[in-house]
Amino acid sequence: MNRTIDPSVVPINRPRALAPARILGIESSCDETAAAVIENGRALHSNVVASQIDLHAQYGGVFPEVASRQHIRTIYAIVDQALHQAHLTLADVDAIAVTRGPGLAGSLVVGINMAKGLALGRNLPIVGVNHLEGHIYSAWVYPAGENPTAEPQFPLLALLVSGGHSELILISGHLQYRRLGGTLDDAAGEAFDKVARLLGLPYPGGPSIQKASEEGNPKAFQFPRARLEGSWDFSFSGLKTAVLRLVRQFEDDRRPLPVADLAASFQAAVVDVLLTKTVKAAQTFQAHQILVAGGVSANRALRQAFLSQSDFHVHIPKLSLCTDNAAMIAAAGYFRFAHGQRDPLDIDALPTWPLS
Ligand SMILES: Nc1ncnc2c1ncn2[C@@H]1O[C@H](COP(=O)(O)OP(=O)(O)OP(=O)(O)O)[C@@H](O)[C@H]1O
Ligand SMILES: [Mg+2]
Repeated sequence: MNRTIDPSVVPINRPRALAPARILGIESSCDETAAAVIENGRALHSNVVASQIDLHAQYGGVFPEVASRQHIRTIYAIVDQALHQAHLTLADVDAIAVTRGPGLAGSLVVGINMAKGLALGRNLPIVGVNHLEGHIYSAWVYPAGENPTAEPQFPLLALLVSGGHSELILISGHLQYRRLGGTLDDAAGEAFDKVARLLGLPYPGGPSIQKASEEGNPKAFQFPRARLEGSWDFSFSGLKTAVLRLVRQFEDDRRPLPVADLAASFQAAVVDVLLTKTVKAAQTFQAHQILVAGGVSANRALRQAFLSQSDFHVHIPKLSLCTDNAAMIAAAGYFRFAHGQRDPLDIDALPTWPLS
């Protein structure tokens, strides 16, 4: 009888304590070059992120060629710094977790090749991680040396809102996902970025809209909310068009643009739709708790809205872990590693890799 175990098969829901391990995580899927060291999937020893925001601001978005070249320039130093800040060397690490996708192909391969080089040189196992799974596992992370935060309890209803995604995912156990819905057009973060551009606010749009909103009235304009009853999908293009129409109207009338009121009203519409649908999904699928993650989960109004509802306990990563980082990749990588995943050294980037 062939008793060989296929290492790509990840056993799930195994009711046992997971073996301890220290993971070096590497992330380079878009415009952040990042490395981090995590112990047992939760305790964060170091988290280094080199953002390329200033480099791309002149283009109003990420320029893929520029991003990959910048990753090449910085990745070695970033990994070195992550180990140094953790007071560790590669000899203290049990595995290397790296983002395989989704993301920009030219950016992903830089992180993957760095991981391969280290794995080969140090005879370390390599674990490929889905970037979206990383965002989810950012909710497990707490700073080493501090008291552990409460661990998310399954079944979880996850709202993943980032630059490229707005997904509702039912998570029944570690690494067990059921995608309920996603965006039909713009992702939530993309909508923030596009509307910011319409309002003449700087890139990246999310933080700019949040800042402008602080001076504005969220009820000044009643923007449409695409409820899409009977579906777990989102749509933000109608909302974006409504903002565009109003902006044009103000321009045609040669009236000054009420940027703060427009930003606050747009933000309120996005938050309303995301909160209402997520809570409804959590009730429908009898989730125990809610998890919100991804770059847009840094939004103050969104965090307040989720944390002030009383139906579900909500996990939201700390601010520094909402946008892209490697701590989340190391955390997800730990759970994959502990469940037996080992990837071959010839793994490639998966730029359009759905979470499954
Ligand atoms: N405070 C904020 N409010 C609203 N949106 C924000 C805020 N901070 C960041 N964002 C948005 O989050 C997005 C970036 O998030 P993230 O880094 O997770 O996206 P990404 O990695 O490019 O996309 P994905 O994770 O889907 O591949 C941007 O669209 C940005 O405008
Ligand atoms: Mg991301």
